[in-house]
Amino acid sequence: MEQQLSDKEKEKRIAALEAVKFVQPGSIVGLGTGSSAYYAIQQIAELVRQGLQIEAVATSENTASLAESLGIPLLGFDEVHSIDITIDGADEFTSDLKLIKGGGGALFREKIVASMTKQEIIIADSSKLVDQLGAFTVPMEVVPLAVNHVMKEVKLLHGSPVLRKKSGHLYITDNGNYIIDADFGLIEDPESLSAALNNIEGLLVHGIFLDLAAKVIMGDGDWVVYF
Ligand code: 5RP
Repeated sequence: MEQQLSDKEKEKRIAALEAVKFVQPGSIVGLGTGSSAYYAIQQIAELVRQGLQIEAVATSENTASLAESLGIPLLGFDEVHSIDITIDGADEFTSDLKLIKGGGGALFREKIVASMTKQEIIIADSSKLVDQLGAFTVPMEVVPLAVNHVMKEVKLLHGSPVLRKKSGHLYITDNGNYIIDADFGLIEDPESLSAALNNIEGLLVHGIFLDLAAKVIMGDGDWVVYF
């Protein structure tokens, strides 16, 4: 398997394997969404097969299906009050642990899970490390009837919003909402932008994650680097 992985996939995988070492028996584990989280879920499933007792919360329907198919016991959101550790990916991160997430469209549940988590570990390949957030557009989950309002407000914040589509159709999230991806250029002040976006009615959640990650583990060639 290792031979067939590209360098980027290998970096995701070694970061994921490193992160899974932090999973303790008896804990509640948040399972992220995306290609990096995939490797962590596979490894957690392997440990479960070997007898590790954990319960997990999934950040998307895709992740729930994968976890279920691999035999990882799942809990619903209504069954947990706190999550011990979550392993999730990111679209961009800075060395001071600011993130953009939501490229995979799961940002709403990812942010709730991150907010409930004692130790949020982000895993990434080395292409995700940036000096300043903003090369990746900021995803936002939006209630369908508020799309025009949110688009207008995002433009007032000097963003260029685009309604996400998939295979020619509007992208619908697991929660039945739309995603707007907004280009703000390089983001000088993520805290101010995050606060401004939080104030837009109808915008449920945006992909700027601040003060949520405990650490980022990045694959870098054959090694991992901790941030
Ligand atoms: C999904 C996410 C993912 O964590 C993010 O898009 C990174 O994905 P990948 O590991 O496939 O690069 O936020 O909503």
